[in-house]
Amino acid sequence: MNVLVFGATGAAGGSVLRACLDSPQVDEVRAIVRRPLAVTHEELRVFIHRDFLDYEAVADAFDGIDACLFCLGISVRQTSGEAEYRTITHDYALAAARMLRRHSPDAVFHFISGQGTALDSRMMWARVKAETERDLIHEFGAVCWRPAFIDGANSDNAPRLYQAMRPAFRLLRGLRGMYVAGEDIGLAMIQSTRDAERGRITGNREIRAIADRARGRGSARQQTGG
Ligand SMILES: NC(=O)c1ccc[n+]([C@@H]2O[C@H](COP(=O)([O-])OP(=O)(O)OC[C@H]3O[C@@H](n4cnc5c(N)ncnc54)[C@H](OP(=O)(O)O)[C@@H]3O)[C@@H](O)[C@H]2O)c1
Repeated sequence: MNVLVFGATGAAGGSVLRACLDSPQVDEVRAIVRRPLAVTHEELRVFIHRDFLDYEAVADAFDGIDACLFCLGISVRQTSGEAEYRTITHDYALAAARMLRRHSPDAVFHFISGQGTALDSRMMWARVKAETERDLIHEFGAVCWRPAFIDGANSDNAPRLYQAMRPAFRLLRGLRGMYVAGEDIGLAMIQSTRDAERGRITGNREIRAIADRARGRGSARQQTGG
């Protein structure tokens, strides 16, 4: 399959990219980023782009795609407020999904939201993510992923404290509802694409279960406890 990755310079997207490059199921990986990637690979094509509301300049990246893995996102603390957070979280994703439909109508759109996402949340970020999930599922049959703590690739964007705390977070590894390795999200997205899933939301435990299944360790149903 051919996949298009957004957010590949980030913690989640960097790990998803690695999972795709390592997967025998994936033939070609394209990444749309606003700055160069450190990784090079014969199966990887990188498109440097600036305007994430208008993808005409990188239209070629959307041709012949089977799955778009949208890992672009931002912490609300890194924005000026709701308007900017909504533009990056909701509008960028919807613009990418629209472009994908025009160029690869059969492709699936995967979106990373996060644990705690809910339309009635008191937290603004959780409501905006929920509205994004709702609109992506309604308009495009998207598959949405709600990871808890992602143990992902090194990201320049992560606060120093967060980077320093990462070894401590790894102590959570045994808690299937609280921790997920970033590459497991990529494995789960690839598996879900192979299974032709559409219009669903998947929580942390099930992400890990699907990744285990993709590696050939147990069935998704057996692994959802814990
Ligand atoms: N990390 C976690 O534990 C965790 C847990 C649950 C959910 N999530 C969600 O997963 C998603 C990715 O998180 P992450 O931890 O990977 O974040 P990250 O390390 O900060 O990476 C974010 C990615 O999005 C890109 N991006 C951000 N703002 C952009 C903008 N205005 N224009 C273009 N690209 C932009 C970044 O590009 P640049 O490198 O160019 O800035 C980077 O590639 C977010 O939606 C986050 O809420 C994360």
